Amino acid sequence: MMALANNEWNPTSWRTRSVAQSPIWPDLEHLTRIEAELATKPPLVFAGEARRLQNHLGLVAQGKAFLLQAGDCAESFNEGSADSIRDKLKVILQMAVALTYAAGVPVIKVGRIAGQFAKPRSEQYEVIDGVSLAAFRGHIVNDEAFNAESRRPNPDRLLAAYHQSVATLNLLRAFTTGGFAALSRVHAWNQEFVANSLEGKRYEVIADDIERALQFMKACGIDLHDDNALQGVDFYTSHEALILPYEQALTRRDSLTGDWYDCSAHMLWIGDRTRQLDGAHVEFLRGVSNPLGLKVGPSVDVDELRRLVDALNPDNINGRLTLISRMGRDQVSETLPPLVAAMRDEGRAVVWACDPMHGNTFKASGGQKTRRFDDVLSEVSQFFAVHQSLGTWPGGLHIELTGDNVTECLGGGSRLGEGDLDTNYTSICDPRLNATQSLDMAFHVAEFLQTYSAANGARSL
Ligand code: PEP
Ligand code: CO
Repeated sequence: MMALANNEWNPTSWRTRSVAQSPIWPDLEHLTRIEAELATKPPLVFAGEARRLQNHLGLVAQGKAFLLQAGDCAESFNEGSADSIRDKLKVILQMAVALTYAAGVPVIKVGRIAGQFAKPRSEQYEVIDGVSLAAFRGHIVNDEAFNAESRRPNPDRLLAAYHQSVATLNLLRAFTTGGFAALSRVHAWNQEFVANSLEGKRYEVIADDIERALQFMKACGIDLHDDNALQGVDFYTSHEALILPYEQALTRRDSLTGDWYDCSAHMLWIGDRTRQLDGAHVEFLRGVSNPLGLKVGPSVDVDELRRLVDALNPDNINGRLTLISRMGRDQVSETLPPLVAAMRDEGRAVVWACDPMHGNTFKASGGQKTRRFDDVLSEVSQFFAVHQSLGTWPGGLHIELTGDNVTECLGGGSRLGEGDLDTNYTSICDPRLNATQSLDMAFHVAEFLQTYSAANGARSL
């Protein structure tokens, strides 16, 4: 590789840096072959779409919109059915309706979907009964079954991840533009098992109101079929850009602007375990023009954050960088304010979003990984309080959810207890909110937004 001048970037410049959380690929020649094949494949998204999302996120950075980023912890190769994709979309649309209707904010919808296949792990190996095997790193790398063959990192999985992302995104595009997401179908997004819950009933009231408003508009002679905003939604994709050979292979130069875009998703984020300033992930992502996320955990200090923001958003562009705070319920009130205040005082154009999931995971007495709805809610509530006291905008919510009726998180709308966890626990990684718990969360966040607006005077939302 040619030596690069000091700050010069190209799609391979990350390879000179140390790569945190990399699988140990047993056959590098195999990996190289797959990278070459992926590089010939069509992009999943276009640069113009990523720019459109960045413009929308620019509105969030200015306090004029709210970001809802949600989906699986890890997508599964065994679960790409049309029904499961549709049901995930339904719950995200329902949450967006609850937020927009109750709080009056436009909601920018971004899925952890169509590419969210890679997981960072705290241990390189997992040991069970004295047997040590490579840790499960998501289906783009290996399989969760505990045997040597399943756990061996296999580059063919990069291609499989690409193909599943293509199929998922194709269906999402059809659902979001082909009538399913039209506002007139607002009732149809309420799944039966949700509709019977308190949250589902609360949603039905809003849906009735919206339907009445649409009928009113129609009666006034407004052609509802003519309006794109009523007929479909903008829905964007995102994932953690963890497996850099995959991301590099899908990175292309935009013919319109000459800029580089990682065309594997509209938005990419850097995880809390791969945000080293001199590391490969920061190096790679600083050079692509997609909107970026950066997970900010309790160990980040102001100086480190400042330098990361310098590296990732040197031109201080609105919407380019979303800081996703994931501090944990017990730490957020202490660790978040100095970071938010510093960004505010230095005039940094960033979106602040709250990931209340990753700092609140624990093992239930039965050994399952779980989260309490109340802990998650408590972190969101403190996140809002921090922004309220600093006069900054609590710009978004980043959560792990599914449209299925799973039993992975405790409490909330479905009032699950520890004894219920085994009933339908299907996550291959972290526990997700089910559809009822997600809707419950959306109603709470809508209330936080209303309180925020009341306390801060009428913002021009
Ligand atoms: C995730 O979002 O799935 C994740 C692993 O988060 P974090 O990097 O914040 O731990
Ligand atoms: Co997770």
